[in-house]
Amino acid sequence: MESVNTITQEVSLHKATWRDFRAIMDLERRCFLKDAWPWMDVLASLTFPRTVRIKAEIDDIVAGFVIGDQRRKIGWIASIGVLPNVRRQGIGALLLAACERELRTPIIRLILRPSNHSARSLYLKSGYVEVEIKRRYYAGGEDGLIMERVIG
Ligand SMILES: CC(C)(COP(=O)(O)OP(=O)(O)OC[C@H]1O[C@@H](n2cnc3c(N)ncnc32)[C@H](O)[C@@H]1OP(=O)(O)O)[C@@H](O)C(=O)NCCC(=O)NCCS
Repeated sequence: MESVNTITQEVSLHKATWRDFRAIMDLERRCFLKDAWPWMDVLASLTFPRTVRIKAEIDDIVAGFVIGDQRRKIGWIASIGVLPNVRRQGIGALLLAACERELRTPIIRLILRPSNHSARSLYLKSGYVEVEIKRRYYAGGEDGLIMERVIG
């Protein structure tokens, strides 16, 4: 899809497929711990026809991924994660922008834990605003914060 030099290394974006299942399952677990999707959801996201799935590779290693889907006219960033050792190099922002472009919806939304400061900072920097709270959305009772970007 595209190739970009970050501060330290070359990152390339590609469409992810079911062949990336193991790598993305591993990333999902490392990024989300107790909130990680079950394997069936990861496999579904890599095979359902209308899902956007993009991986970021560094030296053929999957270093990040994003999953997006479309519900009515709204695109949703369903999952996004970057390996801990390569964070803060622009890969998350790169994946987010690529997924927004592939979704091609005028509005993009996502939901996150309000305590997830790194994700919240990424979304604020990328033009998202906070639009709604889903009470006790997450395991453990934390609210879900919905953020939205209107692309127009
Ligand atoms: C959220 C996540 C995907 C960000 O990935 P990343 O590759 O580190 O993000 P980027 O390097 O593109 O960061 C872009 C901007 O987001 C903000 N940001 C990202 N991480 C941040 C942090 N830990 N603290 C403060 N700001 C942060 C900064 O503004 C940053 O720009 P800057 O580095 O020029 O200051 C990554 O931290 C991650 O995988 N977290 C675990 C999974 C997760 O929480 N996913 C989101 C679920 S809603």
